[in-house]
Amino acid sequence: MSTPKRYTITSALPYTNGPIHIGHLAGVYVPADIYARYLRITGNDVAFICGSDEHGAAIPMRAKKEGVSPQVIIDKYHTMIQQSFADFGISFDNYSRTSAKIHHETASEFFKKLHEDEKFIEETSEQLYDPEAKQFLADRFVIGTCPKCGHEEAYGDQCESCGSSLNATDLINPKSTISGAEPTLKQTKHWYLPLDQYEDFLKEWILVGHKKDWKTNVYGQIKSWIDDGLRPRAVTRDLDWGIPVPVAGAEGKVLYVWFDAPIGYISSTKEWAAREGKDWTPYWKDKDTKLVHFIGKDNIVFHCIIFPSMLKAEGSYILPENVPANEFLNLEGNKLSTSKNWAVWLHEYLEDFPEQQDVLRYALTANAPETKDNDFTWKDFQDRNNNELVGNFGNFINRIVVLTHKYYEGVVPTPNALSEVDQQTLAELKAYPAVIASSIERYRFREASQELLNVSRLGNKYLADEEPWKLIKTDPDRVQTVMYVGLQIAAALATLAEPFLPFTAQKLKNTLGLDATTATPWTAIATQEVLLAAGHTIQKGGLLFSKIEDSTIQQQLDKLAATKKANEVANKAVTPQKDTATFEDFTKMDIRVGTIIEAEKMPKAKKLLVLKVDTGINVRTIVSGIAAHFSPEEIIGKKVTVLVNLAPRKLRGVESEGMILMTETPDGKLVFLNPDEAGVQAGAVIS
Ligand code: MF3
Ligand code: ZN
Repeated sequence: MSTPKRYTITSALPYTNGPIHIGHLAGVYVPADIYARYLRITGNDVAFICGSDEHGAAIPMRAKKEGVSPQVIIDKYHTMIQQSFADFGISFDNYSRTSAKIHHETASEFFKKLHEDEKFIEETSEQLYDPEAKQFLADRFVIGTCPKCGHEEAYGDQCESCGSSLNATDLINPKSTISGAEPTLKQTKHWYLPLDQYEDFLKEWILVGHKKDWKTNVYGQIKSWIDDGLRPRAVTRDLDWGIPVPVAGAEGKVLYVWFDAPIGYISSTKEWAAREGKDWTPYWKDKDTKLVHFIGKDNIVFHCIIFPSMLKAEGSYILPENVPANEFLNLEGNKLSTSKNWAVWLHEYLEDFPEQQDVLRYALTANAPETKDNDFTWKDFQDRNNNELVGNFGNFINRIVVLTHKYYEGVVPTPNALSEVDQQTLAELKAYPAVIASSIERYRFREASQELLNVSRLGNKYLADEEPWKLIKTDPDRVQTVMYVGLQIAAALATLAEPFLPFTAQKLKNTLGLDATTATPWTAIATQEVLLAAGHTIQKGGLLFSKIEDSTIQQQLDKLAATKKANEVANKAVTPQKDTATFEDFTKMDIRVGTIIEAEKMPKAKKLLVLKVDTGINVRTIVSGIAAHFSPEEIIGKKVTVLVNLAPRKLRGVESEGMILMTETPDGKLVFLNPDEAGVQAGAVIS
């Protein structure tokens, strides 16, 4: 553990066009929170900063769809996101929003400074324009084929399939997302940050300077962008949603959302400092401050290339020390998606699992997508809770607490001479703060969480080996020592668990009768002999964790199954209605109930069955294209609907006299229109 420092920790500002889901949490907010909490309890000066990103192009689009103003959308989701983060225990020092006055001012000043210092290139060029909506089509307003990977639904600023950062004019076969129209080209003036001029700086700073300490997934992405060659990037847009470009001759133009949003970290820090009576500048300008950005992998280019170039251009800011971006989390095998509602939403989780924030925090950490995409499954969530939190951590604490009350009425006993095992156990315990710290400081939160569980595992093993419940009859002196050692482990857990399981750590502190002043600080666990003194009284406390039943998990799986169904139905394009049929047209058709009497496969035809159908008029041959869906055996005896006066036609040399009417389920399975009502007989006429 290093000497205390000042840290500015940022986590990606979420767009206010939807609620927070587990992908956001696992990728960004949970690791950032573990990091911030760890740094605080190890005595560092921490500003943990976030806020809502309210100028994203998806916001006015969503507003349009819902028929409300963008303000309604951002207010709704800003409130909801802020509340769910707070309820989930994400310990931001400040949660701001980019519609705040302080942010508009900060971003405008930043732009003006770069403008005055002639850091921009002004250029008039031809941009995609929607002739129907009479609007320029930047970024998300245009989709087309990615020139790099061929993905057909790449956005104008980025391909979500290969991660490439794009310019809208790069897209092949572009289409307006507003009107669907094919865009034309129209002249417009914009301000560009000449990223090509920052190539040497970026190479030196990241490719040389951070080769060893940045994550390989992050480093690799940056290297490939730089190797591809950087181009000037427009930092203004022709849109009516955003921060107006604060220079003359820019009417109707706003700052590019990725120009203003990262400056939101600075504005949010200013807002926090003003409220706390602090000076914000050292958090962004003092070379001794460590700036760390927590983001998802789709944000790497913006945080590692564009924003640092902006900061460099401005000149007075520090650069990030690290950008520990995570890969993506999937849900039950499919990509998380706000628009497809394929997600576990934080606000819904908090309703379904009240008081169980730590279970989700733990499941997401233990399975975090740190080096590759990972899959969240409800089964894994249940197993992690039942086996690790209940079975390991909770079990140890429960045994220690119950036995202390049973043997000593809740008073920590005085130990007798420590055996070798006791000494070894305590020595092992003392090593954990450094082990966990080292994992956290290297952004390996999964590893860190597993080391935490090793602490309670140490406790469980110790109790299982020493068996105080057996010794209590024969050697009560020894039991005093065993229980004393066990209680030291419990006290260490109350501190070590805090970054990962903050609600549990608080409960555990209450149970052990510890508070902020009496709990052992993280850094002192390794050196302090006594963490919980003999004679100290502990409380009873309830269980820290409880088992999650199969039925609870099934409810969540059912909810996802319903979403999947709804998406399938919604995605099925409606077949257009055919031309009008007159009543006479209709009465020409003779539709009757028939019974399938015989069925066999048509030789050498995969799809066809040859049926003998009793139509009430006669038994006739009908060839039907259903062989892929039904075996002959399973349909014999079935009542079906038959168009009996369809002109006979030959199929593979067999004359077919009629047609069986069918329909299809959402997943493409053929089914009969089955008139299996009691009493309906072959030959009944349908009219
Ligand atoms: N809103 C962006 C996203 O969700 C993240 C913005 S991060 C910031 O992808 F740096 F721009 F603030
Ligand atoms: Zn692509």
